[in-house]
Amino acid sequence: MNRINILIILAAIFLNFSLWAQETKPWDIPEDQANKTAPAMFTPDMAKVGKDVYLKTCTSCHGDPGKNNQAKLNPVPSDLASPGVASQSDGTLHYKIVHGKGLMPAFKNTLSATDIWNVIAYIRSFHTGYVQPEPRVIKTFGGSSLKLTLEFLKDELKFKVLAVGVKDEIETPAEGVELAIFTNRYFGKLKLGESKTTNAQGEAFFDVPEGLPGNEKGELTLQAKVVDTDTYGDVMASGVFAAGEPSNKPGLTEKRAMWNVGSKAPWWISLAYPLGVLAVIGTIGYILLLLKKVYSQGNDASEN
Ligand code: HEC
Repeated sequence: MNRINILIILAAIFLNFSLWAQETKPWDIPEDQANKTAPAMFTPDMAKVGKDVYLKTCTSCHGDPGKNNQAKLNPVPSDLASPGVASQSDGTLHYKIVHGKGLMPAFKNTLSATDIWNVIAYIRSFHTGYVQPEPRVIKTFGGSSLKLTLEFLKDELKFKVLAVGVKDEIETPAEGVELAIFTNRYFGKLKLGESKTTNAQGEAFFDVPEGLPGNEKGELTLQAKVVDTDTYGDVMASGVFAAGEPSNKPGLTEKRAMWNVGSKAPWWISLAYPLGVLAVIGTIGYILLLLKKVYSQGNDASEN
């Protein structure tokens, strides 16, 4: 038996062991997560969108609900229409889909918060006798969908975010919603201050930090977002406001940035660069020439 074979056998033993270890590790679901409810009552429309998501992302492993045709993995993923899944709380299913375990992928970054609930609505459509518990948000603003508007109060140097619940085109202030605001930076987003919770009027106020650099006109691109996307979905509002300091630091992609266009470069860079390239080409040519010499000398030697 050679070394490669031993390595393969060791790898197989290790893999088998790690799969076995995954199988025996139970789900560990925090109680508050298990008690979580969906953000809204499930509707046939949600289930319909959830079905599309399911067919694209879940069928390959879990098979068709109720058909017991799952992939032969270790452990075999449950048929999601089965009584064992039906008896679990919405929060439990949500947690499992968001966080994954072993071969079950974590979907928190690949599916939107809304789509995860849509998939659960679809799975629930197979569970006869399932009664959905009251969604938690009904207590806050009538089970309606949340809408944000963002405003700059110039005199007070504050940003105001208004959160309203919209239901049948009627808007009601959404109290107790945690919000955060962000501004665009070169790389990603910068959170401005702490997150705030809306008051009884559905408003939250954020101080404008002093000396925040904007573009040349002092404009800032801002985004207000709901923090608890699990409950409310990816709700946000954005706008451009003259609330920052004018800054003449050009963006990395702007033409004025250092040397990123030829005409901005100092003369010695313009000269040194082509000379460097020539030197490299010259060196390679020289080496090739030497190789050719060695080769033809070798040929001469073998002819003699
Ligand atoms: C790559 C294969 C794979 C994909 C894709 C996959 N799952 Fe899973 N799923 C698994 C496996 C394996 C388990 C069992 C995990 C364990 O217990 O260690 C599992 C477990 C689950 C459970 C818990 C089942 C129970 O009996 O408690 C739920 C719920 C679930 N998956 C939902 C989904 C949903 C919804 C999707 C699509 C968005 C999905 N899964 C996509 C492999 C997959």
